Amino acid sequence: MTKVGQVTVGSLLQRLSSGTGRRSAAAPAAEGLEPLTERLSRNKVTRIALSFLDANAGLHLKDLLFDATSDDRRVVVDGHSVWNFGSDSFLGLDRHPRVHEAIAAALPEWGAHNGASRAFSSPVLVDEAEEKLAAWLGVPDTFIFPSVTLANVGLLPAITQPGDLLVVDRESHDSVHQGARLAAAHGARVVELTEPDPAALERVVARAGSHKGLVLAIDGVYSMSGRMPPLAELDATIRKLGGIMYVDDAHGTGVVGPRGRGAAAEALGTLDNVLMVGSLSKAFSCLGGFVTCTPELKTILKIRSSTFIFGGPVPPPYLAAISAVCDIIMSPEYDDLLGGLRSRISRFTDGLDALGVEYHGGGSAIISLKVGDLEQTFAAGRALFDRGFYAQSATYPAVPIHGGLLRVQINANHPLEAVDGLLAAVEQVWKDLRLPTRRRAVTKS
Ligand SMILES: Cc1ncc(COP(=O)(O)O)c(C=O)c1O
Repeated sequence: MTKVGQVTVGSLLQRLSSGTGRRSAAAPAAEGLEPLTERLSRNKVTRIALSFLDANAGLHLKDLLFDATSDDRRVVVDGHSVWNFGSDSFLGLDRHPRVHEAIAAALPEWGAHNGASRAFSSPVLVDEAEEKLAAWLGVPDTFIFPSVTLANVGLLPAITQPGDLLVVDRESHDSVHQGARLAAAHGARVVELTEPDPAALERVVARAGSHKGLVLAIDGVYSMSGRMPPLAELDATIRKLGGIMYVDDAHGTGVVGPRGRGAAAEALGTLDNVLMVGSLSKAFSCLGGFVTCTPELKTILKIRSSTFIFGGPVPPPYLAAISAVCDIIMSPEYDDLLGGLRSRISRFTDGLDALGVEYHGGGSAIISLKVGDLEQTFAAGRALFDRGFYAQSATYPAVPIHGGLLRVQINANHPLEAVDGLLAAVEQVWKDLRLPTRRRAVTKS
């Protein structure tokens, strides 16, 4: 792990660059994990990444360690206190007393962990949490996994079979692509949708030829840009073609749509005809992921999903916390929380509009400022950090090579002064680094 300005790879690179990589006969035999480390670090892509980390040690803000955090989203890094605009806990529920109480109350009764795969046994808390999630979403049932990644990796191979066609939107989260790779290994045909466009979807499916089942896997909110694909049009198209949509709505859960039911609920009005995967770690500030389903489908998914069968569960205190968050979401307090979040989002986007700074997103709590160049993206993140604001520099491969973004996550517990301060800092940094605005297209001299 690194703190700002420190990386731990320098000596490794030095050693690598001092030789050809082949040992002379006289050299002592490498021991322990060294041969593996050396072999992996000679991989071209790894080497480029290591060189970049070393060359830009003071610039990028990767692997940050917080020495302290506070209720109003301040964090301390190496003695430097900054407002944290890099948290997915969009509603601030990670600091909510009822969530803390639920965790604290469940701990002595149920222990820190159940210690078994759910396929063997679970505390009854899991049933309660799944029922509450289903009631909130207006669906017959839900099925909890320990993370969205494990949901995607378990579910995509579970819902497809040999002869089926799985269309994966290119901009989907890495875990959707990983799940699709496993589905392909199990015999499904997987094709990529290069743009989330209904006509492109029709073309891709037509080109793929005959198939049995058909699934489109796509994000509800793209995690890096905060943009949202046209789910209503894509759903109409995939259903016309006889298929179903699988929406990873990790960032929409609790934030987008009616009562935070997500991007698919907002676009389609109902979750009856989709498989919606939501996050319990982001706006929920607990742990895990879930998929909407029926009780019958859930039984089948339990039989077919390897991450359910062979993996561990969400620990009991966090299951209790999920139920507590469902109660909050169904209470009038949620209107205040969401209202506070949405007013901060529009305060920030209105401010960016006034500055002429271009961005993606704003339909969720992710607003990504367009920078472009990779080094400039790190430089912008670093300059904001020095001014007291932490936002994430999203660079290749998470975004296209010249599509660097400064990713800002607005939280309901950000004080308004922090949002205003961030806008002022963005204005100054965009001027200092001559970053693109609507008024100034040229970025570099
Ligand atoms: C769209 C999407 N899916 C999945 C994940 C992974 O979620 P988890 O941390 O629960 O595995 C993320 C995380 O940011 C995400 O943005």
